[in-house]
Amino acid sequence: MIENDIRQRLFHGHLELLPQMNEIYELELAFVESQLLDNQELVDRGAYFAAVSDVPTNHFRLCAGGGLHLPDGTARKRRQFFVRNQFRTGYATHGLFPYRGKFHPQMVKGILNVMGLRPGDTVLDPMMGSGTTLVEAALMGIDSVGFDVSPFCQFMAAAKLDGFEVSLDPLDKAVRESESLFRFFGGIETGKVPLSGAAERYCPVQQPSAFSAEWFEPKVWSLLLLAFLDSVGFAERSSRQAPNIQFRGILERYAAVTRKLQQGRAALELPVGHAKAEQCDARSLPLPSSSIDGVLFSPPYSFAVDYVENDAPHLRVLGANLGDLRESIVGLRGRTLRQKFDTYVEDMELVLKECARVLRSQRCCAIVIGTNSNQLGKLFGKDPDQVDGLDKVMIRLAEVVGMNFVRRFERRIVGLANTMRDEDILLFRKQ
Ligand SMILES: C[S@@+](CC[C@H](N)C(=O)[O-])C[C@H]1O[C@@H](n2cnc3c(N)ncnc32)[C@H](O)[C@@H]1O
Repeated sequence: MIENDIRQRLFHGHLELLPQMNEIYELELAFVESQLLDNQELVDRGAYFAAVSDVPTNHFRLCAGGGLHLPDGTARKRRQFFVRNQFRTGYATHGLFPYRGKFHPQMVKGILNVMGLRPGDTVLDPMMGSGTTLVEAALMGIDSVGFDVSPFCQFMAAAKLDGFEVSLDPLDKAVRESESLFRFFGGIETGKVPLSGAAERYCPVQQPSAFSAEWFEPKVWSLLLLAFLDSVGFAERSSRQAPNIQFRGILERYAAVTRKLQQGRAALELPVGHAKAEQCDARSLPLPSSSIDGVLFSPPYSFAVDYVENDAPHLRVLGANLGDLRESIVGLRGRTLRQKFDTYVEDMELVLKECARVLRSQRCCAIVIGTNSNQLGKLFGKDPDQVDGLDKVMIRLAEVVGMNFVRRFERRIVGLANTMRDEDILLFRKQ
């Protein structure tokens, strides 16, 4: 009852909220959206509404229907998670690889709106991870550029974008011939069939004649390779199925997800934004000053997640040098936790300085960050409530480089709660 009353007070009667919206930050973002966007804009790119004056929103139509396409071996708990999060995460190509520490895509859509970004603008994610910002911006007609120092992240983000346009027939064929494809990928994993460098998008230099040429179209190939890497990770997480059967299930899902996205895009006549995903160190961005309309990112959860260790199997398949990568990932340098924290702060200042440099004046930068007070409390020998969380550190650094703190949206973290406690969306404006 109280919940309904709050909703009625916050939103006009012609706005119908999506189901399963039960977090305060979601209502806050929805409220700001409803203040900033007109009715047509809410239909086109609103994140939290099912319908506006009975017209279903694009977000609702993209997410609803068509099934979730999870592999057969998926555990019940994980399946329930996807059902619960149908409008938060389970749409477009976001779910293609379960990247740890990924944004909630729906939240990204809400933040892009709150930042005042519109179709034709360009948003930057300097630490894009799996590319959630880029995929979401593309769905909203916003152009984007993303960087990550990890070659695996660059590859994964680019593959998720490829899903918008990949030819579907070769993917269906790959499902039918998954056995021979799996054996071929096995050769890559063991190093018998080497992959070339990033420029050729990790394709084998020589295509074996037995293989259909269409599998080597760059977009098709990147989705097939991502499916294989997904199965490598899946095999580690679950031993309930033989890896080749898992691979087939994952391929089926990739084919179904890309088909659903492309059909949805055609039905909605979505003008998709242009996106570029590149491998680069965010401490030095290859972008001109004042060229970007908004920056949105989440810094590495380096105290909680060792990105190199986590992605080691995939990075190895891609031929990455793990030692070099460890040196450039923010937050992994240093032996003790104290040293790691100090280099993390130094590096984040450089990243924020770059963000401020490339951002146009009066435009916004949004940072999504876990407070990490528990670990910082241990580090400084204090009660977690008495240390400055990473949110405060970030606000201080941003102000130093010329970005004014505007406001925060607080979000409770489920799952990583022991380490992170809360996550904040911090909004800054360049002076
Ligand atoms: C929390 S994750 C980002 C997740 C992303 N928001 C998503 O939705 O998938 C942080 C990312 O920062 C990247 N990173 C760490 N150090 C970096 C650096 N020096 N330059 C660019 N990216 C870096 C990591 O590889 C990781 O992918």
